[in-house]
Amino acid sequence: VPNRFSDELRNNPALSLSKGQKKEFPTQYTGFEGMREGLREDGLMLDVINAKLTPSLGLLTEVLVQQTAVAIEHTLGEKSEWGSFNVKDVSLDITARVSGRVFAGDHLARDEHWLAISKEYTIRVFGNGVVLNLFPPLIRPLMYQILPSCRELRKQVKDARKLLEPEAQKVINQRKESKESEERPTKNTSNCFAWMLDVARGRPLDFTGGQLLLSLAAMNTTTEVTTRCLLQICDTPDIVQPLRTELVNILTEFGWTRSSLQKLKLMDSFLREVLRVHPLASGMYTTDHVNVTPRPSAKKSHQHQ
Ligand code: HEM
Repeated sequence: VPNRFSDELRNNPALSLSKGQKKEFPTQYTGFEGMREGLREDGLMLDVINAKLTPSLGLLTEVLVQQTAVAIEHTLGEKSEWGSFNVKDVSLDITARVSGRVFAGDHLARDEHWLAISKEYTIRVFGNGVVLNLFPPLIRPLMYQILPSCRELRKQVKDARKLLEPEAQKVINQRKESKESEERPTKNTSNCFAWMLDVARGRPLDFTGGQLLLSLAAMNTTTEVTTRCLLQICDTPDIVQPLRTELVNILTEFGWTRSSLQKLKLMDSFLREVLRVHPLASGMYTTDHVNVTPRPSAKKSHQHQ
């Protein structure tokens, strides 16, 4: 669908991402917790993102910049020889390390086991959803028990719990010790465990499911966008110098802050253009016929001169 319809479609009540996902994914099953957390009626994780993560981005810019440098160094290193890398793998690895720092904290962002789970989870959830849907509903519960891929998904979430719950418990203990109120300002050391506690207000919490939802939403989307940008740069290398000049000018004058990022106008146009040329798809569930408003067009003229 052309981009010009996006606002109209986004606000159309007959279209829903979550209704489609609820239909397609057996979120009641173990293994699908990430999807389940994202589809909760009470919108807990949306509150985490809107009320906590997004307002903290200013405070987090410095952390993100430092972590990106560490991640690039770890993944690509300083090589004296040319080497080949798979662009998407590199991009996924860097994304997992950087976003993992914000979502799950410093310790887990360095834990290779958690990084592997956070990188693989999306593909496993979507893959298993598709495979289970190939079977008639009546035998799906049986297939869920015996399919090796479903068993792997369950094991992955069990492993994730073992790694994540102690980290969540640390945050709970810190809270108890410091007896800080729920309204305290967000520090840049906070992570999503703390934010989940902050916004819960009596709602049930699944720390592992919440983190898996963030992996599900952020890992492959960000990787796709980065990969497409890098491939576009390979395709049209003339864009590198103007992008670099803009970065150097803005960063020299203002440093790395959230508002400097907003001043990167060419970068912004580049990202938008890459997404226009190589769009990301999003499936929607329709509850009614959907018509889009046609673009006003000039009538064909029959005047001859
Ligand atoms: C470049 C990266 C990203 C892209 C391209 C992207 C794209 C999308 C798209 C297309 C949707 C579906 C919207 C709809 O159809 O209603 C979506 C939903 C969502 N995204 Fe992202 N996303 C990105 C990064 C992130 C990150 C970093 C987070 C979390 C921190 C996130 C969290 C979510 C959530 C929670 C939803 C579901 C929203 C809802 O149910 O209302 N996304 N994203």
